Amino acid sequence: MGTDPRAIDPEKVKASAERVFGFLGGAVISGMIYLGDRMGLYRALQEAGPVTSEQLARKTGLHERWLREWLHGQAAAGLIDYSGNGHFTLSPEMAMVLADENSLMFLAGGFCALPQQMAVLERLPESFKSGLGLPYDAFGPEGARGIERLLAPWFRTQLVPVALPKLDGVVAKLAAGAKVADVGCGAGVALLEMAKAYSKSVFHGYDISQYALERAEASKVKSGVRNASFHDANGDALPGDESFDFITTFDCIHDMANPAAVIRAIHRALKPDGTWLIADIHGEATLEENLAKNPMAGLMYGFSVLGCMSSALSEPGGAGLGTLGFNEPVARAMTAEAGFTRFERHDFENPINAYYEVRP
Ligand SMILES: C[S@@+](CC[C@H](N)C(=O)[O-])C[C@H]1O[C@@H](n2cnc3c(N)ncnc32)[C@H](O)[C@@H]1O
Repeated sequence: MGTDPRAIDPEKVKASAERVFGFLGGAVISGMIYLGDRMGLYRALQEAGPVTSEQLARKTGLHERWLREWLHGQAAAGLIDYSGNGHFTLSPEMAMVLADENSLMFLAGGFCALPQQMAVLERLPESFKSGLGLPYDAFGPEGARGIERLLAPWFRTQLVPVALPKLDGVVAKLAAGAKVADVGCGAGVALLEMAKAYSKSVFHGYDISQYALERAEASKVKSGVRNASFHDANGDALPGDESFDFITTFDCIHDMANPAAVIRAIHRALKPDGTWLIADIHGEATLEENLAKNPMAGLMYGFSVLGCMSSALSEPGGAGLGTLGFNEPVARAMTAEAGFTRFERHDFENPINAYYEVRP
């Protein structure tokens, strides 16, 4: 039975259409941000100050007509400022988000795997039927690069100077010489930042993504760091010998097909007085709370279907926690289940992540 046409509120239809069209706008403008990042246009705008499309074309060697259309769209989207007479400017604040790779607020890097992330949409209807998701490497090499560029600003600016000193006794151990693991290390940015800062300590990164491990090895060689090594967790797993002083997991427990096994392995690997620093997605415990309090919930559930839950369901029987699934109550319960007895939450400056200091 269809809806009675008399029950339809035309104003609500209009608002619904505007809302849906807004998401199409967001998707298309996201594609334009991808192009701006990929072709170095934001950096060129940052360097140039107010420019016309002709001047930007001369600076970048790109075709003026294409740049003009792109600039018009960026101005219409409120990403760059139009000051009349054909002049466009990237504000210093927007440059921190779109151009400056060393800024904590840099986000454009997170768009670099957009085509690959969207390409998996072709394969996901099959996952909805079979239940089986796709591993992280389904995004190809760009997937590992996209995650690296999205998460690196926090590691480069906050991990060593801000976060580690807030953990009980960890910095003293690192300075004296400690054994450290980063599980789900991805492209290794966090591990290499710590290894550079603490030359007396030894650092081991574990991951199952071949693309991420290749990037990690390449970054290690480039950085000249000698006290770090990377391991394929599939054949060279974290040893369960209570030998590690400090273990970290950054944004990866919720992606894992068997997080309970990995949490138990971390417990077995840590010394009795060791520390595990967990960073995971800041989310509420229930859908109701996420709908009411979490403005990023729609984005996060979308990321989940595209990547996080998909990866966590990529093996038969996968836990499928998903992007918002390793929230604080779940983290408390799963770590306690594995034998951890101490759990403290930290709020380091990061709108995406919650941080937990967990000890045996
Ligand atoms: C969102 S990425 C985060 C990577 C990295 N920690 C960072 O912050 O850049 C999640 C990572 O978890 C890895 N991963 C998933 N399951 C894993 C497992 N069982 N053992 C080790 N790594 C795993 C994925 O391959 C991926 O590199």
